[in-house]
Amino acid sequence: MKIGIFDSGLGGLVITRSFINALPEYDYIYYGDTAHLPYGDKTSGSILAYTLEAMRFLISQNCGLIIIACNTATSIALRYIQQRFIPAYAPDVKVLGVVIPTVETAAACSSSKIGVVATAATIRSHIFEQELHKISPAMNIQEVAAPLLVPAIENNDFARAAQLVENYAAEFQKIDSLILGCTHYPLLKDCFQAALPSVNIISQDELMGAKLADYLKRHVEIDIALSRNGEYLFLVNNLNRHYQHVAATLFPGIPVREVTGITERAG
Ligand code: DGL
Repeated sequence: MKIGIFDSGLGGLVITRSFINALPEYDYIYYGDTAHLPYGDKTSGSILAYTLEAMRFLISQNCGLIIIACNTATSIALRYIQQRFIPAYAPDVKVLGVVIPTVETAAACSSSKIGVVATAATIRSHIFEQELHKISPAMNIQEVAAPLLVPAIENNDFARAAQLVENYAAEFQKIDSLILGCTHYPLLKDCFQAALPSVNIISQDELMGAKLADYLKRHVEIDIALSRNGEYLFLVNNLNRHYQHVAATLFPGIPVREVTGITERAG
């Protein structure tokens, strides 16, 4: 059984890099639903439908552990997938998200006020606020939606993205930590840090690898079922040159393949 990773687009590659850095010996299949991005401005119904379709695909590819490496899909779809879909469809498969590990890290290193920047759908769900308050009920939290950032990143317009980061960063008041609550934002980590120099930037590319390693150590029954040939497969349903370039930078020599016909039924 392989480790499946799902995201709407480029951000998932950054998280996959973090997993492979920490655990290179496992077999990974990354699937990006690039035909439907950005997820952040979609309805909850569409996000759930797309995510379910991706789960079916990764399960059909023999993934026994799937990480939804998309905060938007985690916010909207993870609970339904864990509680309703998986028990009925593939009870042996484990599906995890990215919000809880991020919130655990943030709560451990923040003292006064945490900021969260994420897509519109993620902010609308208030999942970061709710999960942070479960750990630390008195925690002061400020959430800011950044609906224009993912489109700028996916369009390879990093000059515009940098300007947008400055604008969004200016909305935060007196935060000591900032959660980059979208897997695309680690690509702009330096911009966020420059805009908020005294703030501790919590970036999922720096924490998810260690969190997965820790999870597998604590769940030996899952770990022993995972194959370890160091094989990495990258699949998207709409491949463009910018995507290929970012993938080639992060994973030199490993091609990204386009797969078609797996999301037509969703949305
Ligand atoms: N990468 C996704 C996330 O972590 C969002 C990108 C999108 O809007 O499609 O939220």
